[in-house]
Amino acid sequence: MKSYEKLLLENKAWAKEKVTDDPEYFSRLVNLQTPEFLWIGCSDSRVPANEITGTQPGEIFVHRNIANMVVNTDLNLLSVLSYAVETLKVKHIIVCGHYGCGGVKAAMTNHNLGIINKWLRNIKDVHRFHRAEVDSIQHEDQRLNRMIELNVMEQVMNLAKTSIVQKAWKHNNMPHLHGWVYDLHDGIINPVFEMAAGTHIDPIYEFDDL
Ligand code: CO
Repeated sequence: MKSYEKLLLENKAWAKEKVTDDPEYFSRLVNLQTPEFLWIGCSDSRVPANEITGTQPGEIFVHRNIANMVVNTDLNLLSVLSYAVETLKVKHIIVCGHYGCGGVKAAMTNHNLGIINKWLRNIKDVHRFHRAEVDSIQHEDQRLNRMIELNVMEQVMNLAKTSIVQKAWKHNNMPHLHGWVYDLHDGIINPVFEMAAGTHIDPIYEFDDL
C-alpha cells in the first residue's frame, strides 16, 4: 500500500467511527459553522491546532503559515482574518508559535534560502526591534525561544494594527487577541501575551474613520 492510500483508508475508518458514536455528527456540522476561535499557527506538522487543544471540527477556524506570521500585505491571511472577524464573528484570535520553530531559527541566520528570504525578512524585523534583549541572551536555544515569544507578541500587535480588528473592537468589543507558544517537548502551551479588545495601541496605527 502506498503511503497516501493509508490516509484514505484511515479517513474511512474515522468517518465510520464518528457516525457510530454520534449518528448526527456530520449532518450537524454540514449545516453550521460557528467557531469561537481563529487560530494563526505555524505550518509545522507537529503543531496541529485541534489536536493540541482538544477541540473538534467546527470549533476553530485555522490559518497556518511558516512561523505564524501576520503580514499586512498577505491577502491569504487578510482574507481569513476578514471572514473570521466580520462573518464568523470569532471572540478570540490566537497566534500560536512553538519553541524551536525552524522558521524563526532560519531568520536568525544569514543563509540565502531563495524565495523564503522574503517571508523570513518579516521575522528579521522582529529581531531588529528587540535586538538589545535578544542578543543579550548567551545560550543559543534560549535566545531562539525568546525570539519566538517576541515574534508571537509582534504578530498579535500586527493584528491590532489592521482596520479589520480595530473596526470590530470599536463596534463589537471583540475579538480578544492572544499570543501563545507551544512546547514540543511536553505538549504544553505557554500564554505569553494578550490584548483585550479595545486595548490602546501606538496612535500612529489607529484609524479614525472606522
Ligand atoms: Co514553526
